Amino acid sequence: MLNKLQQQPADALLALIKLFDADPRPDKIDLGVGVYRTATGATPVFACIKAAEQKLVDEQPTKAYLGPEGDMGFVHALIPHIFGGTDPSQGGRIDGMQTPGGTGAVRIAVAMAKKAGVTKVLMGTPSWPNHAQIMADTGVELVGFNHAAADGSADLPALRDALRAAGPNTAVLLHGCCHNPTGIDYTPAQWDEIVDLLAETGVLAIVDLAYQGLGLGMDEDAYGTRAVVARLPEALIAYSCDKNFGLYRDRVGAFYALTSDAAQTQAALSNGHALARANWSMPPDHGASAVRLALTDAALTQNWVDELASMRARIRQVREKLAASSNAGGVNLVPLGGQQGMFAMLPLNAAQIASLRADHAIYMAGSGRINIAGLTMGKIDKFVSALAAVSA
Ligand code: LMR
Repeated sequence: MLNKLQQQPADALLALIKLFDADPRPDKIDLGVGVYRTATGATPVFACIKAAEQKLVDEQPTKAYLGPEGDMGFVHALIPHIFGGTDPSQGGRIDGMQTPGGTGAVRIAVAMAKKAGVTKVLMGTPSWPNHAQIMADTGVELVGFNHAAADGSADLPALRDALRAAGPNTAVLLHGCCHNPTGIDYTPAQWDEIVDLLAETGVLAIVDLAYQGLGLGMDEDAYGTRAVVARLPEALIAYSCDKNFGLYRDRVGAFYALTSDAAQTQAALSNGHALARANWSMPPDHGASAVRLALTDAALTQNWVDELASMRARIRQVREKLAASSNAGGVNLVPLGGQQGMFAMLPLNAAQIASLRADHAIYMAGSGRINIAGLTMGKIDKFVSALAAVSA
């Protein structure tokens, strides 16, 4: 029976990790998978997480099961940081559960929306490739609309048309900030208009907030999420701590639901628990426990806020230097200065991307997405010259 199974291609983005590691050239540059790197190219464990992990080793009393909802201390400790304001859980209308990374949270969001009757999900394209895979695997129809306008801003007319044409039983997946792969975020004024459109059309918002704090700031990056939950009766939010706590391989995420009242939110979440139980039973504990300890200790929380600010500043510095480079041949890097987060899309074709890898040891996704944080200041000139060489 099993010999009916066809060989599947490796995930193109994750395959780059191994290809890059196997490349012996000393001056190679990894702009592939979305991992933050410091000015020296390292991805260290956050100091606040190291301290919290030490506390866990010293004080954790047990590793007995928690349940499909995971560590609710972690889920609740994040709420003020995500939703802000004086009543961040909106009187209990917002509550959540722990998930294996942001991917697990998106999976729960799409599957829960489907259980509630959603048959199609609108999504701006390009998007993170796994979004489409999750939708296909969950069995909802994906309806794409254009995300990036020719001038490098978000294509709001395309979103507006998609929402107005949507009809019933529709959800829309929106990137909360630091759009992956384009770096093109909605402005606050655009978010306000989107929320008006969602209220008018009744389309259910699924917000994927995977990079809070890596764009303009914790509050600025949550503007859209907060506008959605402040003004709409219902929404689903997928959250990742993998980037903003540097916990990538520990898979630390959370899923939140906003419904009409606290009791209905718990009913919605009971569906999330059932979905989790059938998929992964319970989420991995370690990283979420470390985040909980960091967020319930004022000194560690401050340490986290400061570390995130320095990451954000470094990403901004690289963006500005790239945007100021006028010698990248046919590639215009100016728009990168006005975009947010770790990613940008370069207008390169497959042959140019292959040549960057073969001739210049520069690795990026086949879509032309680069991870800005993969560049150190010292490597920008080499990168820009290589762009000029392949696009001359
Ligand atoms: C990325 O887009 O590089 C990250 O979100 C990693 C992943 O899981 O794809």
